[in-house]
Amino acid sequence: MPADPRLIVALDTPTRKEAERLAASLDEAVSFYKIGLQLFASDGMALARDLKAQGKQLFLDWKLHDIGATVEKATAAVVASGACDLLTVHAEPQVMAAAVRGRAGERSARILGVTVLTSLDDDALSALGYGLSVRDLVERRIRQALDAGVDGVVASPFEAALARKIGGPDFLVVTPGVRPAGASMDDQARASTPADALRSGASHLVCGRPITAARDPHAAAVAITTEMAQALKSKTTGA
Ligand code: C5P
Repeated sequence: MPADPRLIVALDTPTRKEAERLAASLDEAVSFYKIGLQLFASDGMALARDLKAQGKQLFLDWKLHDIGATVEKATAAVVASGACDLLTVHAEPQVMAAAVRGRAGERSARILGVTVLTSLDDDALSALGYGLSVRDLVERRIRQALDAGVDGVVASPFEAALARKIGGPDFLVVTPGVRPAGASMDDQARASTPADALRSGASHLVCGRPITAARDPHAAAVAITTEMAQALKSKTTGA
């Protein structure tokens, strides 16, 4: 079964070597990888270039958040690496506008806004001085992402439908916290099956441990890809 380009596997390993071993074992079953800050600090950009040279797509989950000039230059540098298909920034208007400037029309590198970190709840937002619930701030930031001209947002399975509704059909809705039916939740309090996330409007699914910690990661990736294909079938047939 060929890889589904909507499945992004999170390479959350401490070293480049371990990530390479994992990617080699997944081989043709996975075509899109996410590299986060841990791996970034361990030769992550070199790994991204190598995987790109092997024909993979790369989601660089840097969650940039700084003054406009810095975000603009950092985005330009990441895009110039040629090894970035998706880049995250915090979904604040100034930050997103700077990232769009930094990309300078290079549409192959798409930018995602991180609306509200899932580690924050209503009380945490209140302590930070926000007078909005998580839900309302997520909605506001999805609208601001559209206004800023970024390509989509990262949204939990429970916000994916809202992001799809506000963003329209071409908006990217990238959803982490995906767990195959019956799998361990790990520390994901709000997880969803691949089929449900796709039905809610996700354009891409981010999946880490259900694949990377499986005894047979290749088989786990194929099983999730199969679940995704079945979700698509039941959507088109209405089954
Ligand atoms: O192993 P697991 O499938 O939980 O990994 C999900 C990946 O998505 C991790 O890299 C995690 O940092 C990331 N992520 C998340 N929840 C968010 C944003 C990102 O789990 N709200």
